[in-house]
Amino acid sequence: MAKGFYISKNMGLAGLLMGAAAVVIIIALAAVYDKEKTKNQNIPVDGVTVLTTASPDTISTISTPKDPWEHYRLPDSLSPVSYNITLWPRLVVNASTGLYIFTGQSAVVFQCEKDTDLIVIHCNKLNLTLLDGHHARLTGLDGATAPNVKTSWLQVKTEYLVIQLNGKLAAGKSYRLSTDFQGELADDLKGFYRSEYTEDGVKKVVATSQMQATFARKAFPCFDEPAMKAVFHITLIHQRGTVALSNGRDVETVNTTIDGTEVTMTRFEPTKRMSTYLLAFIVSDFAHITGSIENDNVLVRIWARRKAIAEGHGHYALNVTGPMLKFFERYYNASYPLSKSDQIALPDFNAGAMENWGLITYRETALLYDPAISSVGNKERVLTVVAHELAHMWFGNLVTLRWWNDLWLNEGFASYVEYLGADYAEPTWNIKEQIILNDVHKVFAVDALASSHPLSRKEEEVNQPDEISEMFNTISYSKAISYSKVLYVLEHLLQQGSPCSRPSPTARFSMFQNISYSK
Ligand SMILES: *[C@@H]1O[C@H](CO)[C@@H](O)[C@H](O)[C@H]1NC(C)=O
Ligand SMILES: *[C@@H]1O[C@H](CO)[C@@H](O)[C@H](O)[C@H]1NC(C)=O
Ligand SMILES: *[C@@H]1O[C@H](CO)[C@@H](O)[C@H](O)[C@H]1NC(C)=O
Ligand SMILES: *[C@@H]1O[C@H](CO)[C@@H](O)[C@H](O)[C@H]1NC(C)=O
Ligand SMILES: *[C@@H]1O[C@H](CO)[C@@H](O)[C@H](O)[C@H]1NC(C)=O
Ligand SMILES: *[C@@H]1O[C@H](CO)[C@@H](O)[C@H](O)[C@H]1NC(C)=O
Ligand SMILES: *[C@@H]1O[C@H](CO)[C@@H](O)[C@H](O)[C@H]1NC(C)=O
Ligand SMILES: [Zn+2]
Repeated sequence: MAKGFYISKNMGLAGLLMGAAAVVIIIALAAVYDKEKTKNQNIPVDGVTVLTTASPDTISTISTPKDPWEHYRLPDSLSPVSYNITLWPRLVVNASTGLYIFTGQSAVVFQCEKDTDLIVIHCNKLNLTLLDGHHARLTGLDGATAPNVKTSWLQVKTEYLVIQLNGKLAAGKSYRLSTDFQGELADDLKGFYRSEYTEDGVKKVVATSQMQATFARKAFPCFDEPAMKAVFHITLIHQRGTVALSNGRDVETVNTTIDGTEVTMTRFEPTKRMSTYLLAFIVSDFAHITGSIENDNVLVRIWARRKAIAEGHGHYALNVTGPMLKFFERYYNASYPLSKSDQIALPDFNAGAMENWGLITYRETALLYDPAISSVGNKERVLTVVAHELAHMWFGNLVTLRWWNDLWLNEGFASYVEYLGADYAEPTWNIKEQIILNDVHKVFAVDALASSHPLSRKEEEVNQPDEISEMFNTISYSKAISYSKVLYVLEHLLQQGSPCSRPSPTARFSMFQNISYSK
């Protein structure tokens, strides 16, 4: 018989406890590891069974069906056709409430795709006036009768106005939903907001907007997803002596009096079918300079503070805009889609610039150039940002991503062709050589972090407004362009007679062009 090995009872118990603790730690670590892994969807979940056996609770909550208004994505039962929007920003503070506000009316005509007794439409931070006792008024069009509203409420978390009906909307029929509302013209840089500056000792207020990605719903109730394109009829009411701008050309300006207040009413031509995130509304006392695209009826204007325009700070941007638009027309083989191109420099602006269709908004440093004090770097910044935003007028605005998970398509290609447009306008600068430094090297650092993500995410991974704004990062901009850069380097090497001359450079390049056209 072999000699036994004995330990005391206490030692055994302690050993047992330690063993159990070790098992618990291993399981916990495995769970954490698995969670990290599933975050990165490219790596298959292999061999780790902890999550499925240990957390039945999480699984059951995920699969519980929620009410449509608890989802962050709109139901697919309704699709917008056109909007008729009137907005009136007040550029003076209301002394009794201490608030700057805007009031508005909006009517959206939508088509019913699937029978439904529910209307879910985005609406955030707006106070809606009750119409016939409800938050909105529904009318049937072309002989359709609208069911009565049963109940309506604001679902704050998911940023919806929800309307339950007594009967069903019928598939194939069209309806109009009208709302009457008031919002704060806050200085929060989101939706319809307020920008302030001082000129010659006088404080001035500008009403302006930033809708991307999810802030149009803060300006008027709308189906606020990029694929929900519609035609917009816009009217702005504004103080006499100010100028109102929007995506289209102004077609009518009248002086009138509303509730005893003297105002000017500016109506704009209907927009092209477009996404809500590309809308823009601006009221200011800004001045402008005018140019055009060669042999074209397109009106090109640069807007800024009166003083900046008087001192000629808009000239550089105006000088390069016409040639670059011409270049992009040839590059995309498509005419500039709109009747005008306005670019405006704002004293308070969150991003560098925003490609609103026909009315691009910029930080002052990204549009204005003062030859007396600006550096060459400042000039390069103006050139590349203007090129980037103009590139979006086709890629992004005319052709648009379906959902924000594919933001890299939009930003990667704009960030690439930005160099081509800039190179066309300033051929002696060799600007394309900057891509490696400005984008490829920059993204190496970010892509090495654990927080990096694949270029494109799964659609269902990007839902909430915060998850959408997270997509606007270096990966979406610079990693995507770095992929394009690989093509560019190859093309360049091949053109210079490198020995590895298998695919011809023109084939490579046309492949890239074909990618940029596909929807
Ligand atoms: C928009 O609404 C205004 C006032 O409600 C109306 O006069 C105008 O005809 C409407 N325009 C369109 C295009 O529906
Ligand atoms: C200020 O706000 C109050 C409360 O909303 C309103 O009754 C009043 O008419 C406003 N004053 C002006 C000058 O708009
Ligand atoms: C909206 O209504 C709330 C509650 O009555 C009020 O506190 C807020 O000031 C209103 N906002 C605007 C812009 O009128
Ligand atoms: C409206 O009024 C402003 C200032 O009072 C004036 O400069 C402008 O010419 C008027 N516009 C029209 C269309 O009458
Ligand atoms: C704009 O172009 C004009 C005419 O070519 C030139 O005289 C002017 O210096 C340019 N302005 C800037 C700021 O580049
Ligand atoms: C598109 O290409 C065709 C063929 O080269 C050309 O005739 C046409 O003018 C181009 N269109 C634009 C808008 O560049
Ligand atoms: C690009 O598209 C054109 C026209 O559709 C086609 O003829 C050509 O073969 C495509 N090129 C590549 C590289 O796929
Ligand atoms: Zn962009």
